[in-house]
Amino acid sequence: MHIHKFEKIWLTFGVGALLVFLTVLGVSAFYLGNQPPSCLATINPEKVDTTAPFNEPGLKKVEGKDWDYELVFVAQAFAYTPGTVEVPLGAKVKVIATTKDVIHGFQVAGTNINMMLEPGYISEYVTTFDKVGEYLILCNEYCGTGHHMMTSKIEVVE
Ligand code: CUA
Repeated sequence: MHIHKFEKIWLTFGVGALLVFLTVLGVSAFYLGNQPPSCLATINPEKVDTTAPFNEPGLKKVEGKDWDYELVFVAQAFAYTPGTVEVPLGAKVKVIATTKDVIHGFQVAGTNINMMLEPGYISEYVTTFDKVGEYLILCNEYCGTGHHMMTSKIEVVE
């Protein structure tokens, strides 16, 4: 079988690129341990209000963990609880969030926090707030008529 020279170059490039991508993916997933954020933690979406830690939304200081605070959010159409929360500057915070009804977004503008909140699942993200200011939390998954009004706020204070 005759294969044109350019065809061979293109095939080699294609197969090479595929191998590079699979290697990067494999090293990232199995050696560096990068996984989709907390796809494993589940919750009964009908019992969110009575299930810890969602029975007490807000900021809580914790001891003996890799982070200093846990910041718990409950989402439902069309609001987050708490509506506003103060976080001390430089605090290492684990954000823990879930939804009581439909899929909502949890994007903190100006940071790289951007989670999807799915009914029955708990989304978590550990971050450090090292800049004073107000951070708007936005729902970026269309969830109904009040979607555009669904916000909350993190105030990072000294
Ligand atoms: Cu909640 Cu859009």
